[in-house]
Amino acid sequence: MPRPKVYSTHPLFEEARKILDASCDIHYWGATERPPREEVLRRVKDREGLICLLTERINDELLRTAPKLRVVANVAVGFDNIDVDACTKRGVIATNTPGVLDETTADFAWTLLLAVARRLVEGEALARSGNWKGWNLDQLCGADVWGKTLGIVGFGRIGRAVARRSLGFQMKVIYADAVRAPEDIERSVSAEFRDMNSLLSDSDFISLHVPLLPETRGLFDAAKFFRMKSTAFLINTSRGPVVDEAALVAALENKKIAGAALDVYENEPFIHPGLKRPNVVLAPHLASASLETRSKMAVMAANNVVALFNGQRPANMLNPDIFKKR
Ligand code: DGY
Repeated sequence: MPRPKVYSTHPLFEEARKILDASCDIHYWGATERPPREEVLRRVKDREGLICLLTERINDELLRTAPKLRVVANVAVGFDNIDVDACTKRGVIATNTPGVLDETTADFAWTLLLAVARRLVEGEALARSGNWKGWNLDQLCGADVWGKTLGIVGFGRIGRAVARRSLGFQMKVIYADAVRAPEDIERSVSAEFRDMNSLLSDSDFISLHVPLLPETRGLFDAAKFFRMKSTAFLINTSRGPVVDEAALVAALENKKIAGAALDVYENEPFIHPGLKRPNVVLAPHLASASLETRSKMAVMAANNVVALFNGQRPANMLNPDIFKKR
């Protein structure tokens, strides 16, 4: 039996490569910088499987050039880079990597929250600068985190993992979501369901955990910032376009909010110059970036591909209705 031909836009990690190398005829892009689009289009032409990162657009243009493609495995939980309908129309299974990155992403949302509240980045720069003159009473005073109110927008797996961590900080947790969580989940993290306006006006920290959908694009706009406390901070580890960046910059300039800590941006890797200010902590889309988690994500994507070619159901299908056993 000929081995299925697969292309990976990234060299991946050893554990994932072992899985793929054992049963596929696979070509890996050899660098960690993403391949040029023409390279991807050229490589997928005769491929039955594609493993890609969230920086790759999986759209009709790509699907058209890859008539043999049967599976696209995204090494990410977010899949706004994939036109799932276009995949479905062409009978291509699309998969993602849910679950394995929840705790790591929640850790990072907290890393950002603590860093911006306690002015860690400014302090670190001062400590390294050689200009630190020693302890001073009013030096780089930030905001307390413990005992404050944390507002979580999007109370799925990651939002809940963020909420769990707040218990140690004796915080009050409120959340907004299209769907209210079951009572036992609310109770386990002492979270209170709120409508968006009351969450905006009562939170000291707002952490975003919604997927990028037409209805969440630009969700945090000028009107939302206007309702926030002027002492509040916005944390975003979800997707950049959930926040209207120009409106965020205006809110920061006009002191409508106290600061922000961001891992994601509207047009990555471009970062709005107005965000480069002391009360904004900026990270380059790192929330799931622990070696353990990124490796698990790659393994999950590899398993999704191999499962399909073995006639099994891939575990993480985005369009399961088109799955057919061979
Ligand atoms: C995802 O998986 O969607 C993240 O943004 C990267 O881990």
